[in-house]
Amino acid sequence: MAKLGVNLDHIATIREARKTNEPDPVFGAYIVELAGGHGVTIHLREDRRHIQDRDLDLMRQVVTKMKLNLEMAATPEMLKIAARVLPNQVTLVPEKRQEVTTEGGLDIMAQAKPIASAIKQLHKHAIEVSLFIDPVLPVIEQARALGADAIELHTGSYARAWSNHEYRTELDQIIQGTQLGRDLGLVVHAGHGLTYQNIKPIAAIPLIEEFNIGHSIIARAVYVGLERAIRDMLALIS
Ligand code: PXP
Repeated sequence: MAKLGVNLDHIATIREARKTNEPDPVFGAYIVELAGGHGVTIHLREDRRHIQDRDLDLMRQVVTKMKLNLEMAATPEMLKIAARVLPNQVTLVPEKRQEVTTEGGLDIMAQAKPIASAIKQLHKHAIEVSLFIDPVLPVIEQARALGADAIELHTGSYARAWSNHEYRTELDQIIQGTQLGRDLGLVVHAGHGLTYQNIKPIAAIPLIEEFNIGHSIIARAVYVGLERAIRDMLALIS
């Protein structure tokens, strides 16, 4: 069965709406474990719009049985933080302050040098590195060439196409990308825009090892609680 990494950023989004101390995303990590989730994902953004440095430090202390996956940009500031906190995995993502969420995959063609250097630095600290990329074959080959351990295929285009029922092309791209990634020896993850409604065709791709899902789970959790929301998603990906 594929693993589920639960992205807890949006618990912090609610807290930051009032700049108070609740709800605490660190409590969320306990619930992920209780519900049978396999990992916690958080994105420390340059502008700290949701997750704060304190959240990352505390998460590192409480997430001991699951994987802690830190999404971050490949900047000197973030690399320094990763080297101090030592998440199990770093997923390198592009970052623009203006965007609402991470909109496209990393441009690892244009950014080959800094990305390769970031991977090397993270490897020195025994941190596994995943690259968040679009499901485009030459880009997947480049991820391998740059020394990544894993790729996270961006499912945003699939998710957008799913809502108007014309998702087959995007799904095929993800299927082909997954196959190529595995043929090259990369671990393949997928994420972004995945929901209880659109997950099934993606979950049916047997070679994807991990899904990182945030917004949809936290949105359901508002009504049914986080534990139930995670269990519902686990049932769909199993
Ligand atoms: N994977 C990556 C690399 C992301 O940047 C995000 C959004 O933070 C997610 C997965 C989760 O996306 P969503 O919140 O749409 O499930």
